[in-house]
Amino acid sequence: MPQNTTKIKKCLFPAAGYGTRFLPATKAIPKEMLPILTKPLLQYGVEEALGAGVGNMAIVTGRGKRAIEDHFDISYELEHQIKGTSKEHYLTEIRSVITKCTFSYTRQIEMKGLGHAILCGEPIIGYEPFAVILADDLCDNDGGDSVLSQMVKLYEKYQCSIVAVEEIPAEDSNKYGVIAGNEEESGIFRVTDMVEKPEPKDAPSNLAIIGRYILTPDIFDIIRETKPGKGGEIQITDALLAQAKKGKVIAYKFKGKRFDCGSVDGFVEATNYFYNKSKA
Ligand code: G1P
Repeated sequence: MPQNTTKIKKCLFPAAGYGTRFLPATKAIPKEMLPILTKPLLQYGVEEALGAGVGNMAIVTGRGKRAIEDHFDISYELEHQIKGTSKEHYLTEIRSVITKCTFSYTRQIEMKGLGHAILCGEPIIGYEPFAVILADDLCDNDGGDSVLSQMVKLYEKYQCSIVAVEEIPAEDSNKYGVIAGNEEESGIFRVTDMVEKPEPKDAPSNLAIIGRYILTPDIFDIIRETKPGKGGEIQITDALLAQAKKGKVIAYKFKGKRFDCGSVDGFVEATNYFYNKSKA
């Protein structure tokens, strides 16, 4: 089967992490279910995928994440309680998401890194190109094409793996995968090197990968061969480097804003941003 010519139909959401930075809130609630205003982070991600024409959600969960499955399902009791009342509209958005998408779940049994989480999704994804959204990177392009939509369009042209990148201050390089590349078009780089969480002195540029990827399915075999890297974990950055060495990774400086909702500061910033937007 040709691996790189298919349309992107599936989006993988790694959602097995513990969310330790948000304890005690995340003791019994998955971090992906923390809300920005009234909507869980993961629902923002699912809506972004859906808006990009990607309707099949592949969610990699772990222990204690059942609330995610319940969220993307009908709650008969709730439906019954509010049907015909003035409160019914609160469910409109989530009902629409549920009817337009499919949701498949698999579990990551051990936390062995983002690369490993993505590999756990292989049985759901199969052998076709797919998107990856890290729900704690919340993106918004203020009415324009979402970050994933921009990337899906780019995939039609480049037919290879794509990572979304943004410029970061030098001192933050140890929080991200950082790339080096040659700019082929404005904001589009052919990646030549990538390093997971380098110290500022070792960073190959100031372009950091954020939680949006399009991956070609050969990545699964590469991940299987990838040795544990930074933090003793199997890193997707290291697996992508093998594709990059063959000229098969594009880094794309996306249009829009991105909030690091995995940190309390970014979470508060996103909350204020969406609150102000809702009042505008
Ligand atoms: C992961 C990736 C990293 C990427 C980041 C984006 O790191 O390993 O390369 O830059 O997501 O949010 P994490 O934030 O899970 O530590």
